[in-house]
Amino acid sequence: MQTKNAAVEPFSLEIDIESGILKNATNHLVRRASDMRGHYADGAALERLIAGENDPLHYEVFEVPVSEERGHLMYCISKLQPGRVGEECFMTKGHYHADAGTAEIYLCLRGRGFMAMKTTEGAWAAQEMSRGRMVYVPPFWAHRSINTGDEPLISFCVYPGEAGHNYGDIEQEGFPRRIYLRQGRVVIT
Ligand code: F6R
Ligand code: ZN
Repeated sequence: MQTKNAAVEPFSLEIDIESGILKNATNHLVRRASDMRGHYADGAALERLIAGENDPLHYEVFEVPVSEERGHLMYCISKLQPGRVGEECFMTKGHYHADAGTAEIYLCLRGRGFMAMKTTEGAWAAQEMSRGRMVYVPPFWAHRSINTGDEPLISFCVYPGEAGHNYGDIEQEGFPRRIYLRQGRVVIT
């Protein structure tokens, strides 16, 4: 039986919900449009965006990590910019957890969009994200967030300390459906 986790004193942090900033974050991951090559249906449109808008910011993750072990909870702020690649809505890369049998909770703090999810067996689901809405990502489901709105899509995410990230498998498989904004309407194909 596990008795003790790495010693962490109780603490509290402030989140600026409007700007999506976790104050005093020690990890700040930045993904730009050029980091998203291979993820959008229209690769040429992505290249035009990179060249024409000086490789714009795509999304950020703010973390104050705790020990990545069972018993602890990892948490972060995910902030995805609004925008389109052609007509496809900006999205995160998406991943399975490295320990695939670990779940995650996303609490949306601002913006509009979807959490797209899939399993290795081919099941697919999308849940709406909007301020105050929570999405439960079950164990074994890859997940990516997609911004269909015109402001940042900001979420607070919580997942088990041991979860880790596996980007490779979903990069190979891809997600079976995509989300577009056409004439102002969300279209899932
Ligand atoms: C953590 C998690 C989120 C994402 C973040 C960026 O397990 O799901 O914090 O890491 O939204 O997306 P990815 O990791 O797909 O680049
Ligand atoms: Zn995750």
